[in-house]
Amino acid sequence: ADALKIGVAGLGTVGASLVRIIHERQESLAVSCGRAIEITAVSARNRDKDRGTDLSGTTWFDDPVEMAKSGDIEVLVELIGGADGAAREAVEAALARGVHVVTANKALLAESGVALAAAAEEKGLLLNFEAAVAGGIPVIKAMRESLTGNTISRVYGIMNGTCNYILTRMEKEGLSFEDCLQEAQRLGYAEADPTFDIEGNDTAHKLAIMTALAFGCEISCDDIYLEGISNITQEDIRAAAELGYRIKLLGVAQRTEGGIEQRVHPTMVPHDTVIAQVDGVTNAVAIESDILGDLLMVGPGAGGDATASAVLGDVADIAKSRPGIQTVAALGRPAKSLTPYKKAR
Ligand code: HSE
Repeated sequence: ADALKIGVAGLGTVGASLVRIIHERQESLAVSCGRAIEITAVSARNRDKDRGTDLSGTTWFDDPVEMAKSGDIEVLVELIGGADGAAREAVEAALARGVHVVTANKALLAESGVALAAAAEEKGLLLNFEAAVAGGIPVIKAMRESLTGNTISRVYGIMNGTCNYILTRMEKEGLSFEDCLQEAQRLGYAEADPTFDIEGNDTAHKLAIMTALAFGCEISCDDIYLEGISNITQEDIRAAAELGYRIKLLGVAQRTEGGIEQRVHPTMVPHDTVIAQVDGVTNAVAIESDILGDLLMVGPGAGGDATASAVLGDVADIAKSRPGIQTVAALGRPAKSLTPYKKAR
């Protein structure tokens, strides 16, 4: 089968991880997807920065919108970020031209997700966004696929790695808020503008997407009660600990008699619960539904490799989305390097 040609827009923390991983794992990806994945184009402002892999054979675009419009690509991977501007224009241009889209951009989806999904659907294209919520944890797949048929009553959890990292280190090491935030930025967890992390907007974007999937209602960030963690002090954390609680920034969406309630705020969580014990950049997303019961998914919520893992899964889904490829690839094509132990007879 022909290689799937992808164009990566944005080579920051996640983009750089993605291109390196795809280059390093070309062979095994071709095996598991049933066809190779080839990065034919990239777009980033700085061509000279070291991204840990050789991009010399790839067509460079300074403007991601140009890449979306004219690049030799079947999939646009949008990792620019931001609800408007280049990210949105590039995604719109790709869909208009018949190019599938994979995005990690929660702000864009929270603002324009419905319109973009409609544009994709009209053209029979895929718009995949697993990496937009909770980094590498497959919460979108769980919601869109595994829980089909369930009636969901509540979705909640820790959906911002930067905030959880800050709260954890303030508590366990007594570090200042500012020092923890700087460290989260250095590690590539924080948004370009970290205000979105610490004031809760990033959690609100993710919650709005989860709410729409869970309850089939409109995406509306404006209706989310919003309070971030910038006012949390060491005293707050200590006082909570003395009472047997830990402070976590939670996003919660639930069915109530009056409609769907959505809120994001620092929450006192009893210390003997699983959520309370989720430390550092780790995220945790709980989904309560009627057929399955209570599901809790815990894993890496931010950072280059973890987020790239989810993006790669979305790209792989597109590579496999052809008749005859799906089932065999899903079971894992036999790879020479992986031989099951043979039982002695
Ligand atoms: N800034 C985000 C976080 C990145 O800290 O969770 C992942 O969406």
